[in-house]
Amino acid sequence: MELKELLFYEEYEQFYMMAKESVAFREFCRKAFGEDFSQDGFSDISQIDRILPYVPKDGQAHILDIGCGNGKVLGYVQKKTGAFIHGFDYSGKAIETARELFIDNSDFRQGMMGKIEYQSEMFDVIISLDTMYFAPDMSKFVDQIMRWLKSTGVFMAFYQEGDVMPKTENERTSVLAKVLTEKNISYECIDISRESYDLLRRKREAALSFKEEFEKEGNGEWYDMLVAQTDYADKSFEDYSKEMARYIYIVKKATDL
Ligand SMILES: C[S@@+](CC[C@H](N)C(=O)[O-])C[C@H]1O[C@@H](n2cnc3c(N)ncnc32)[C@H](O)[C@@H]1O
Repeated sequence: MELKELLFYEEYEQFYMMAKESVAFREFCRKAFGEDFSQDGFSDISQIDRILPYVPKDGQAHILDIGCGNGKVLGYVQKKTGAFIHGFDYSGKAIETARELFIDNSDFRQGMMGKIEYQSEMFDVIISLDTMYFAPDMSKFVDQIMRWLKSTGVFMAFYQEGDVMPKTENERTSVLAKVLTEKNISYECIDISRESYDLLRRKREAALSFKEEFEKEGNGEWYDMLVAQTDYADKSFEDYSKEMARYIYIVKKATDL
């Protein structure tokens, strides 16, 4: 399949162009998420900090971010741990920015899930922040991820239900959980739905407070999109949790040996 035919390809090119230029968006991200990672949605600083304990701090670690966008999450992890950072994304604009921002001990590639390949047993940590949904074949992609991990490696998937993926009953019934179970891959799961609901409300408040700045920049349409993404903030947590959920899946390869 051609890049341009992939789900949301053009939208992400536009998004990462806006993220590069817009001061309002950077300030919005800081206010909503505690740090500007050019988030397309859902991961705030407290979620990202949950990655750090899994990254060896000896300066020898290699971490891969699947669908890394403009690399800002990886840049943060590198600053905190000294790791060599690897990322890929199908957005050429995102990868261009990542290469400009993070030059040392880094490898950023434009590539598609299911097509890109890395050496076996290369990574200490592989992260996927809201990107597993886009794998054309999640089962095959999980096989690839497990192959890319060192025998002591850890895979972390930050995974939302209720938008790209349908809401299922619980953390054991998601598409990803079922794939892992079918393969006898054990995992821990942290349910972060409640904190994601609180984040959604913060995100709504932050977006509203930057309305004028977005409009002055000619980015009114992005403002509208950010507000639309926070529709659920008007519901109670009980109603939200009937339709949405957010989990962190943690897979330690060593337990599967
Ligand atoms: C929901 S965003 C998450 C971005 C970033 N990880 C974050 O948490 O803000 C999905 C990301 O996956 C990328 N993406 C979507 N489909 C892809 C595919 N088939 N192959 C590679 N990257 C893809 C998009 O460009 C985008 O950066």
